[in-house]
Amino acid sequence: MVTPVRVGVLGVADIAVRRMLPAMSASADVDLVAVASRDRARAAGAAARFGCRPVTGYEGVLTDPGVEAVYVPLPLALHARWTGAALDAGKHVLAEKPLTASFTETAHVAEQARRRGLALMENIAFVHHPQHAEVARLVAAGVIGEPRTFRAVFTVPRRPAGDIRLRRDLGGGALADTGVYPVRAALRLLGPDLVVAGAVLSRSGGAEVETAGAALLRTRGGVSAQLEFGMDHGYRSGYEIAGSAGRLSVDHVFTPPADHRPVIRREDRSGTTEIVVPAADQIGLTLTAFARAVRDGRAQLDEAVLHEARLLDAIRAASPPASAEPSAECG
Ligand SMILES: NC(=O)c1ccc[n+]([C@@H]2O[C@H](COP(=O)([O-])OP(=O)(O)OC[C@H]3O[C@@H](n4cnc5c(N)ncnc54)[C@H](OP(=O)(O)O)[C@@H]3O)[C@@H](O)[C@H]2O)c1
Repeated sequence: MVTPVRVGVLGVADIAVRRMLPAMSASADVDLVAVASRDRARAAGAAARFGCRPVTGYEGVLTDPGVEAVYVPLPLALHARWTGAALDAGKHVLAEKPLTASFTETAHVAEQARRRGLALMENIAFVHHPQHAEVARLVAAGVIGEPRTFRAVFTVPRRPAGDIRLRRDLGGGALADTGVYPVRAALRLLGPDLVVAGAVLSRSGGAEVETAGAALLRTRGGVSAQLEFGMDHGYRSGYEIAGSAGRLSVDHVFTPPADHRPVIRREDRSGTTEIVVPAADQIGLTLTAFARAVRDGRAQLDEAVLHEARLLDAIRAASPPASAEPSAECG
């Protein structure tokens, strides 16, 4: 255990109130000291509920010498600005996924953190769940033979009108909101040597941002990755990796609750077996990893976040512009 890191929060966001602030309150690794909102009453309400100091406006957290680290759960379009401001103020940063809206912005804040010797982490909790290390271990042990293809999907139901994910000005869209998960899973299991071979982004329900997408990636060695994502869909969350001798597949991979016991399905010529992995609290593990990064003075941003940003940009660039909602004349 490390000395708890004193954290201030920028914005009374839904994800903060539902998941991160309860986890911070329960964690021995962080000490929640302040929560800020643009709205005084919202700050007061959240602070009373989670037993910390309310701050009106985000600047007050950055100038507070009692705050060592800042958690940024703002709309994507504001991530780079407030992450940069927090690093400038000498604070370590845990920012929501994706870390920023582009590779350029991510590289910029990564360089800021490196220069100042501050920890910078993206809050993409699933990577901390041990089930992925177990899948990687099985692949490395040769249980599927030579890897040939990876497939991952993350789709979620549509949010109400006005939600930040449906607003272009706030950095909305399915690629950033949901596509980031399969992209990161591909990086986790196939490594950084991935390029985009093709992609499609599309819109439904009159949305001003893309609500669905698919991308085909490949490694230099010829392993393909088929990624699917969306935010106007039934809930799906899983991946499989298939090779010359079999395949491994897992469901509920991206946002499993802490009591979920993952099952890795292994299929090969001898049949199907199920490998049960112990349940894990991936949000708690993320906070522990962040606190360690702060206390160990590990200033480096995980390289995978830079590769993730590069691939998200490349998927957007590869998608043909005519991929909007089909018109009524079609068909
Ligand atoms: N890691 C995960 O599993 C996960 C899950 C869901 C969401 N997220 C990420 O977390 C972030 C927030 O998502 P959310 O669903 O919690 O969003 P949300 O409920 O809309 O919260 C965003 C917060 O940002 C603040 N804000 C500042 N300027 C704003 C503006 N112009 N418009 C709207 N809000 C503004 C608001 O706080 P105040 O009014 O209090 O200032 C608002 O409550 C996003 O980056 C999202 O991708 C991550």
